[in-house]
Amino acid sequence: MDSKAHWERVYRTKAPDAVSWYRQHLETSLALIERAVPARSASIIDVGGGESTLVDDMLGRGYNNITVLDISQAAIDVTKHRLGLAAEQVHWLVADITNVELEPLTYDLWHDRAVFHFLSTVEQRTAYVRQVARSVKPGGHIIVSTFGPEGPLKCSGLEVARYDAESLHREFGAGFHLVESSTELHETPFETTQQFLYCYCRIE
Ligand SMILES: C[S@@+](CC[C@H](N)C(=O)[O-])C[C@H]1O[C@@H](n2cnc3c(N)ncnc32)[C@H](O)[C@@H]1O
Repeated sequence: MDSKAHWERVYRTKAPDAVSWYRQHLETSLALIERAVPARSASIIDVGGGESTLVDDMLGRGYNNITVLDISQAAIDVTKHRLGLAAEQVHWLVADITNVELEPLTYDLWHDRAVFHFLSTVEQRTAYVRQVARSVKPGGHIIVSTFGPEGPLKCSGLEVARYDAESLHREFGAGFHLVESSTELHETPFETTQQFLYCYCRIE
C-alpha cells in the first residue's frame, strides 16, 4: 500500500483521539512557535498537520497566516469540519511533502510533528530538506519533532527512524543552525509513553 492510501485508510477508520500520536493540545509546539514568531502575521506551515488541534490553537492565539498540509484528504476534511467557519482563514494543501511545489521563500516558520521520521529513503529525506530550504525565508524558523533515541520503532504500523538532536540536525545540514532541542514523553491514548525529540533550527 502506498503512503497516501495508508494515511487515508487510517483517518477514515479511526477517531481523532484513537491514534497513538493524539494529544488534546500540542503545548510544546505552541510554546516554541510563540517564542520563535511572536508576530501574529507570521507565515506558518504545519506539515503533516493531520487532525491535530495545533491549527485551532494557533488561530485562537491570533495567528492569521497559517497553512496546513497533509497527504490525507480525510484528515484535512476532519480538521476543516472541526474548525467550521474559521477554516476559511487557513490555507489547506493536500499533498505529499516530498514532491509538492511550494511557493519559494514563503514561510517564516515550518512545523512538523511526527512526519519526518516516516521518511525511510535518502531520496525522501533529501527532497524534504530541499523543500524547507526552498520555501522557508532566510532567517526563518524550523521546528521538527520526531521520535527520540528511546522512541518506538514503528508508528501506525510503519517503520520509523529515531533521532537525537545531532543526527536530526545532520539530516538538515550546515545551512541550518540548531538553536535548541529537548525530549518529551508523550502519553498515548493507550496509556503508554513515547519519547519525542523536538529540534528548533534557524535557516541561515
Ligand atoms: C503521526 S501523524 C502526526 C499528525 C500531527 N502532526 C500530530 O502531531 O498530531 C503523521 C502525519 O503525517 C502525514 N503524512 C505522512 N507522510 C506524509 C507526507 N509524505 N507528506 C505529507 N504528509 C504526510 C499523515 O497523513 C499524518 O497526518
